[in-house]
Amino acid sequence: MDIFQQTEALLQEVQEAVINNPEELEAFRIRYLGSKNKLKDIFAEMKNVPNERKKEFGQLVNSVKQAAEEKYAIIKEALESSATATAGQDIDLTLPGDVVTLGARHPIQLVKNQIIEIFKRLGFVVEEDREIEDDWHNFTALNMPEDHPARDMQDTFFVQVNPDVVLRTHTSSIQVRVMENQQPPIRILSPGRVFRNETISARSHCFFHQVEGLYIDEQVSFADLLQTLDFFVKELFGKDTRIKLRPSYFPFTEPSAEVDVTCFICGGGGCNVCKHSGWVEILGCGMVDPKVLENCNIDPKKYSGFAFGMGVERITMLKYQIKDIRLLSENDTRFLSQFRAAF
Ligand code: DAH
Repeated sequence: MDIFQQTEALLQEVQEAVINNPEELEAFRIRYLGSKNKLKDIFAEMKNVPNERKKEFGQLVNSVKQAAEEKYAIIKEALESSATATAGQDIDLTLPGDVVTLGARHPIQLVKNQIIEIFKRLGFVVEEDREIEDDWHNFTALNMPEDHPARDMQDTFFVQVNPDVVLRTHTSSIQVRVMENQQPPIRILSPGRVFRNETISARSHCFFHQVEGLYIDEQVSFADLLQTLDFFVKELFGKDTRIKLRPSYFPFTEPSAEVDVTCFICGGGGCNVCKHSGWVEILGCGMVDPKVLENCNIDPKKYSGFAFGMGVERITMLKYQIKDIRLLSENDTRFLSQFRAAF
């Protein structure tokens, strides 16, 4: 073997060396990189290499050195990191376990589910729909044509590039979508998030949740509406709860009313929650205006119906005596964890 072949053989040796532990790694280092390493003997032969091949020889020797250095560095790192990994496996079985904290349902979700559950027992089915609406479904079909003053009741977020597109201001838009696509009997409950261009304060927010109800069939009367709401408030707030209707105005219902319930905190005697009146307002309702039925291709001579809409935040705040609506969207776990028990 000439000195070139010996060097090639050494390179192969370096490449094929098996290193499984720190001891073998140290032996490798001494053999190929240490102060008396094998390369030095070979390099000493440089003087016998003919001049024209000296460069080639030098490069070959260098490649052996480089291969040894690289292999050493890679295996050193691998051995060190597997040492830390195995160190982690030394589990101290006497240590106390981590406390697993149970999540809690959001109070809005809790109240929304309670409302849905009550109406489901009366045969209402849940219908949801889009938050980004067009003018027709949010306003016009609901008897609020353009320039109708009632549009001012709800400060609206419009999309600048297309004024026909709005963030829905109420879940009444779902009524329209359902009536356009189904014939009576219709008995739906529509929960969802709504948006209004309101200044954010303790009492109002630019987004909140509503639940809308709609019942359309032959001969649906105001008495049916009253019975339904009476059942609902007794289930939600307790069997002694009573309702009181005050005449009101909504463009999509005629007649319309606002519904108060006897204060479930003081039972009607007067307290801070009901501002000492004994009553708290919880929803709006009425008989669906025949014009709205017509807009949705339902024959108002054959069918009639009632609708109602309530704010979930409002009911939640009353029920749990929450004084600031912002708490319901800030996701502060100190606040939210208080509802842990209330599954
Ligand atoms: N859409 C009304 C609002 O956002 C609430 C409402 C009132 C809904 C009366 C109704 C209703 O269906 O009959 O203020």
